[in-house]
Amino acid sequence: MKPIRKAVFPVAGLGTRFLPATKAIPKEMLPVVDKPLIQYAVDEAREAGIEQMIFVTGRGKSAIEDHFDIAYELEATMSARGKDMSALEGTQLGPGNCAYVRQQEPLGLGHAIWCARDIVGDEPFAIFLPDEFMHGRPGCMKQMVDAYRGIGGNMISVLEVPKEKVSSYGVIAPGRTHGSLTEVTGLVEKPRVEDAPSNLIVSGRYILQPEVMRVLETQEAGAGGEIQLTDAMARMIGNQPFHAHVFDGERFDCGSKTGYLKANLALALERPDMKDTVRAFAADLLN
Ligand code: G1P
Repeated sequence: MKPIRKAVFPVAGLGTRFLPATKAIPKEMLPVVDKPLIQYAVDEAREAGIEQMIFVTGRGKSAIEDHFDIAYELEATMSARGKDMSALEGTQLGPGNCAYVRQQEPLGLGHAIWCARDIVGDEPFAIFLPDEFMHGRPGCMKQMVDAYRGIGGNMISVLEVPKEKVSSYGVIAPGRTHGSLTEVTGLVEKPRVEDAPSNLIVSGRYILQPEVMRVLETQEAGAGGEIQLTDAMARMIGNQPFHAHVFDGERFDCGSKTGYLKANLALALERPDMKDTVRAFAADLLN
């Protein structure tokens, strides 16, 4: 079985839900406490043994490239002043560890992934949707890669949501369950509540076989008039093993404002350097 060495990060979205914050900066650069969302996703990938990060970007997203580059002025100035540089650790991706490709038109998540086909090549790969912030030890992708080693095929991370929320997501039809894995017998993107096959939603982490790129080539527009990754994956069920993995950890939907605020508060309350202060003022505010 080939190891998962590459990850695709679709980051071309306009981030309209976070305006005006995202007028001039990518939504993936919004910080949770002091680290941008995209950095959490890259750290999660590295923890899972992934070596090459492939970013599918668009116009106005160059802050992401700068973030993972060398910052000469900053580093030289800080080192000349004897400042602690530890906060910059892990923020650099060398030329062998990252690649950028542009999605020129907003045609959907499936199209974004397809834009990375030449860099992915003929091997299984991971996908991270960075606004799904998965917090746990080990991280979500490490848990998935560990499960994948025993079973192969395609794997998506799923979680339960209240039934009335399913229409914002990809939803699975579940088959048999063994431990943290459930067979996926069907997939539908943004179904109406009454048509949803379950309340188990696709939560932004995928391990897919390279054949998905061929399927995406002929994928027609689906929900919202966009080329949907979910529709392409649905066509692969039956031809290859397909499993859902339930993450043992916490998920914050940082695509929503309240989910983003919750992530900030939760992480601040875990940080030794600020948790007491934050707890005290949060209690104060609530009173
Ligand atoms: C995308 C996927 C969907 C998934 C969701 C997770 O939807 O298409 O299947 O459940 O991410 O956040 P989007 O949020 O781009 O509409």
